[in-house]
Amino acid sequence: MFVRRIAVIGSGYVGLTTGACLASLGHRVVCADVDERKVARLSGGEVPILEPGLPDLVAQGLAAGRLKFVVGAAAAVADAEVVFLCVPTPMGAGGAADLSAVEAVAAEVHALLPAGCVVVNKSTVPVGTAARTAQLLGRPDVAVVSNPEFLREGSAVEDFLNPDRIVVGCDAQDAAERVAALYARLGAPTVLTDAASAEMVKYAANCFLAMKLSYVNAIAELCERFGADVLDVTEGIGYDRRIGQAFLQPGPGWGGSCLPKDTHALLQVCAAADFDFSLLQASLDTNTHQQHRMVAKVRDAVGGSLAGQRIGLLGLTFKAGTDDLRDSPALTVAALLAAEGADLIGYDPGVPAAVPGMTDDLQVTDDPLKVASGAAALVVLTEWPEFRLLDWGQLAELVQRRVVIDTRNLLDADVLRRVGFEVRGIGRRATRALTTF
Ligand code: UGA
Repeated sequence: MFVRRIAVIGSGYVGLTTGACLASLGHRVVCADVDERKVARLSGGEVPILEPGLPDLVAQGLAAGRLKFVVGAAAAVADAEVVFLCVPTPMGAGGAADLSAVEAVAAEVHALLPAGCVVVNKSTVPVGTAARTAQLLGRPDVAVVSNPEFLREGSAVEDFLNPDRIVVGCDAQDAAERVAALYARLGAPTVLTDAASAEMVKYAANCFLAMKLSYVNAIAELCERFGADVLDVTEGIGYDRRIGQAFLQPGPGWGGSCLPKDTHALLQVCAAADFDFSLLQASLDTNTHQQHRMVAKVRDAVGGSLAGQRIGLLGLTFKAGTDDLRDSPALTVAALLAAEGADLIGYDPGVPAAVPGMTDDLQVTDDPLKVASGAAALVVLTEWPEFRLLDWGQLAELVQRRVVIDTRNLLDADVLRRVGFEVRGIGRRATRALTTF
């Protein structure tokens, strides 16, 4: 395997994972960030995000001298053969991707890039951005490659090192092959294509996942109406290999820093291209409906009005295993509950205290017992496994009303029923014995 000198611009969630994993594959990696404090912490082996396996990889990379952190893109690219752009592309005005960070880096490094190096875009960017980046760089000797990431927060290292596929797109085949070779040790299926197709793969994948989740959330609602059980239904369809078991769990709506951003961004470019992607729009609308439906379930459980009711929330992050609150459906549901006058207290194992961006109407505690104290209902919003292991007998003594709305179908309803709780899940059949033959 060729060992390459790699620069990674942006040491956030994607950049840091990419840098540490590429170093673990043997490459020499310099990660850059604009945040001096973050660079100092990372240089000392301190990883600022909750991501299993990442601290170990960073420590190993630092100790082996294969991983380094520097302030500013200019300091990183000097002798790089491959430069990864891993800067944020947040949702800008009207839902379109905001590319100002990509543009700023291009402006900063265009004159500093070593002759013949390859620039790789890992950020999720609209189709055409590789071509636009090449234009901004104005360096005919530097190829721009699209190599989208498919990492999930909470399992990013595992996803990087055991990918389902590697996608590399460039209009110059040799540059695409050079980037694909960086991952050779992983032995993953590799799709070599043009830049526009690689950029499209990322949107097509995330939007498909969003659609799949909205579909299953709608099926869960239908199950409730018709007395079917969504767990059996998803098991039944998931064995079909064309469908698969993954990404079939209903929830309070899908969220996070990627799926909402990418669905909005694709819809935005569709609108600009006069293309009516009604299937994708419907997925987004279904998601909004799902969040409102969760509120209706809570309202219903407390007798019809949320005004002045103490509601205890279990889980605030957008999924378990992360401390990330960005676009968390739990917080959207919380804001909707607060808007109807509910008095909210929340607990999340990944969020020990209130942090900026959280709704002001939500008190955060590090003690699940406080969440239960005097609650008219408890609501599970994130699928943290530890919620199953709470002392439900003790919680039953503390709540005002023994009802749990389990928007993740996480809890063992039998355990809770034994201590007097009523459990209302998503798409679950009311308990009744099945006929046996
Ligand atoms: C997502 C994609 O899964 C990654 O492949 C992609 O690389 C990443 O976006 C990105 O673009 O960077 P992530 O945002 O970490 O990853 O989160 P997911 O695991 O996809 O979960 C998204 C949302 O769907 C969460 O709110 C989660 O709770 C929800 N979900 C997921 C369900 O409600 N049910 C499921 O069965 C699975």
